[in-house]
Amino acid sequence: MYLLCYIMIKLFILGVLCQVTTTLRLLDVQVPTAVNSDDPVWLNCTYDLESDELYSVKWYKNNVEFYRYLPSDDPPAQKYKLLGVYVDLLQSNLGHVFLSRSDLNTDGTYRCEVSAEAPSFQTERAERELRVYVLPKGGPKIIGAKSQYSAGDKVDIKCLAAPSKPPAVIKWSVNDDEAPKVYLYQLENIRHKNGLQASQKGLRFTVQPSHVLDGILKLRCTAVISQAYSMSSEEIIVGNTVRASGLYSSADGPTIDGGLSKYQVGDLVNVNCSSNKYRKPATLTWFINDKKAQPISLMHYPVAEHEGGLKSSILGLRFTVRGHHFHKGEMRLKCTATLSKVINTTSKETVIGGHQQTSGLHIFETSSGNNNNDKSTQYSWRNLLKTVIILFTLQLYIQ
Ligand SMILES: *[C@@H]1O[C@H](CO)[C@@H](O)[C@H](O)[C@H]1NC(C)=O
Ligand SMILES: *[C@@H]1O[C@H](CO)[C@@H](O)[C@H](O)[C@H]1NC(C)=O
Ligand SMILES: *[C@@H]1O[C@H](CO)[C@@H](O)[C@H](O)[C@H]1NC(C)=O
Repeated sequence: MYLLCYIMIKLFILGVLCQVTTTLRLLDVQVPTAVNSDDPVWLNCTYDLESDELYSVKWYKNNVEFYRYLPSDDPPAQKYKLLGVYVDLLQSNLGHVFLSRSDLNTDGTYRCEVSAEAPSFQTERAERELRVYVLPKGGPKIIGAKSQYSAGDKVDIKCLAAPSKPPAVIKWSVNDDEAPKVYLYQLENIRHKNGLQASQKGLRFTVQPSHVLDGILKLRCTAVISQAYSMSSEEIIVGNTVRASGLYSSADGPTIDGGLSKYQVGDLVNVNCSSNKYRKPATLTWFINDKKAQPISLMHYPVAEHEGGLKSSILGLRFTVRGHHFHKGEMRLKCTATLSKVINTTSKETVIGGHQQTSGLHIFETSSGNNNNDKSTQYSWRNLLKTVIILFTLQLYIQ
């Protein structure tokens, strides 16, 4: 009897060992790093089952499940309601999920989890960040500009960008040169209910004769949107007894070196995260179980320079494993690399006629002289023609 039991246990262990060598592998999780609000999104999860049979493919956003595909279920695909996740079941298949549109609530961390059938029940997972951006609708507006300034006058105007996410950075230029810092003053962003922000910046200076070139003073304001656009991540999941899940990496993601496959309480974790090579160094961030690692655990190294002006960043993580690092017997270490991209700017130019050219054209001076009839009668046809030409030029510049 004991012998039989012993043999059965042996066989069982052998069976488990065999399974380990033939289980599924997660090959790639494709989630766009950044999309513009309203864009449709594909979330693709590719895996190799090897000799295993598929039990399920599940998708989670910020740890909440919104889609599962179980071949044994009827129908096999199901979706669950989740804010900002618009699954189109007809177009989705197996691991590939189609979101028919996106909005600001779509922003988040998406995880694909693939499990094999009994007896292995092997589960592999990987996750990706998806950022949703909202580009401004239209250019920034210049507010408070008078139609005419003469030397000695005070210019005090502000530029208001159209609402966007992230908020735009505003730049002012005077006659095509960047405005000196002393001319600028900060104003708080205007927060809109839908989560968008409109940034604004003031410009204040006294007009000098040198500002007025050929009778014209050109003021332009530019709104620049910069997107953190490549948030690629790699995750190692380690168990306190055995490796709980595979190591996942992708071509563009940062890599983790120096990790052991198994850690126990009291062990020292000493790993490096290295980014790919980029023109501007990527910002690396370490996460332990989805929480940002404490600064004390981080080891900073200088950016490595490569051929062609390319740079790669390295960030170390060093800490001693404590019991609280394990959740349900596993600890997850992840590193993300973030790059910034300057999305194009939207800009608008205001051209203000200098006093030489516009003298007498008081129509510019105040917002409107509609009820000021005696003033408008002063205009000669010649002046009126000038007004039309200047208005036309203004129009051209604004275009
Ligand atoms: C994701 O899968 C869909 C359907 O199979 C395909 O049309 C789409 O191109 C894939 N996306 C990527 C980024 O591979
Ligand atoms: C991490 O990278 C730094 C700089 O290249 C190196 O000095 C250090 O030994 C590395 N540590 C590990 C654990 O690989
Ligand atoms: C925005 O685009 C214009 C023309 O398309 C280009 O001249 C300008 O340099 C771009 N600005 C930035 C900040 O990329």
